[in-house]
Amino acid sequence: MRSTLILPFLLSAANAQLNTLAVAAGLKYFGSATDNSELTDTAYVALLSDTTDFAQITPGNGQKWDSVEKSQGVFTFTKGDEITALAAKNSQLVRCHTLVWYSQLPSWVSGGTWTNETLQAVMKNHITETMTHYKGKCYAWDVVNEAFDDTSAAAFRNNVFYQAMGEDYIRIAFETARLADPDVKLYYNDYNIEYTGAKAANALTMIKKLVNGGTPIDGVGVQGHYIVGKMPTGSDITKNLEAYTALGLEVAITELDIRMTLPSTAADLAQQSTDYATAVNACLNVANSGCVGITIWDFTDKYSWIPSVFSGQGAACLFDENLVKKPAYDGVVAALTAGKKSGSASPVVVATTVASSQSASSVVPVSSPVVATPVTSSAVVSSTIAIPTASGFTTSYIPAQTSSQAAVEPSVSSEIPSATSAGAPIATSEPVADEDDCE
Ligand code: XIL
Repeated sequence: MRSTLILPFLLSAANAQLNTLAVAAGLKYFGSATDNSELTDTAYVALLSDTTDFAQITPGNGQKWDSVEKSQGVFTFTKGDEITALAAKNSQLVRCHTLVWYSQLPSWVSGGTWTNETLQAVMKNHITETMTHYKGKCYAWDVVNEAFDDTSAAAFRNNVFYQAMGEDYIRIAFETARLADPDVKLYYNDYNIEYTGAKAANALTMIKKLVNGGTPIDGVGVQGHYIVGKMPTGSDITKNLEAYTALGLEVAITELDIRMTLPSTAADLAQQSTDYATAVNACLNVANSGCVGITIWDFTDKYSWIPSVFSGQGAACLFDENLVKKPAYDGVVAALTAGKKSGSASPVVVATTVASSQSASSVVPVSSPVVATPVTSSAVVSSTIAIPTASGFTTSYIPAQTSSQAAVEPSVSSEIPSATSAGAPIATSEPVADEDDCE
């Protein structure tokens, strides 16, 4: 009799619990990416819709430029709408993704002939139309995605926006976004910026400059596309995330998956469980609850993007191709159950002039305010901060890594190298999808 009473509770607790445990550990949400083609799979949708596991979803492709504005000025929100409608039905948060990215751009943008003024107008219109449509439906927007390249210098990516506007496109994008929707969190999102290296240093330099200049930015997302057994250390991740929370920003892990060479072995799956726990702990350990949530880049190997982009690799998710939980699921549960560790609080010493009501509410306590000097837009453009510029680089598609390639920690230099001394592209933990790599 006793066991029949207890068993249903134990089973349900064991069945679905990632978000429940994440919230108990101090996060706002645990979530997953999803995609339109997957939503006809009823067993999949049932799992995705279980908010004890996933209280947040991200459209994997449906809100990208080539989906939303394939022809200039013609906006189609069907795909993104399907996902925000599902979220509304399930009472899930949505991380909206993404507005300004060099990849999955329609050719009229990437191959157009632009001046600063003409592309600026096009970019502003895209941001404004898209954000206005989704107003009230997003917890956060990834406003700018992957602005740095994969050379050893981690220069600004020489994308069409950079070519037309220089690095100022980033500030303009955020300012346009804030005007379009004052209530949504505005994020910069990138990969390989959460551990030691030029890319992390340059991203932090750029974000500091935006914050100190009064550009409205609320958060920094680290994607977290890792390789089994080659994770950055948890403390490196936490330390790098805390550099952003010290600026008054929130941070999140936005696209977590941990891939391996196929076929997977039991040892790989065990290591993957440990690695997922490392990533979860790294977020939980960020001081003052600055890391607000974790999003996995889909929850099942059945729909993971990995095999199609990284040849010979896969098995990167928490559930297998039959929607059965893997050891990695238990690793995440264990890390979330252990919860927040004490003693990781770093002093927060920087106050900012972030021009956002959202930011004000998300700012962690400030112990020693520093008055930032607002700069004008032209001052931002002509700043002497020595992030290498993209001129002189070719930023082409970086093919999928072979299994022998590690997630690279770029060499550390105390100075940011100039563009002319920059080296060749390095292997990264993520290949860069080109424009053809879209749905
Ligand atoms: C990926 C999608 O999951 C794939 O379906 C698509 O073919 C390529 O893009 N960084 C990002 C995401 O910010 O938008 C990418 O999503 C994965 C890398």
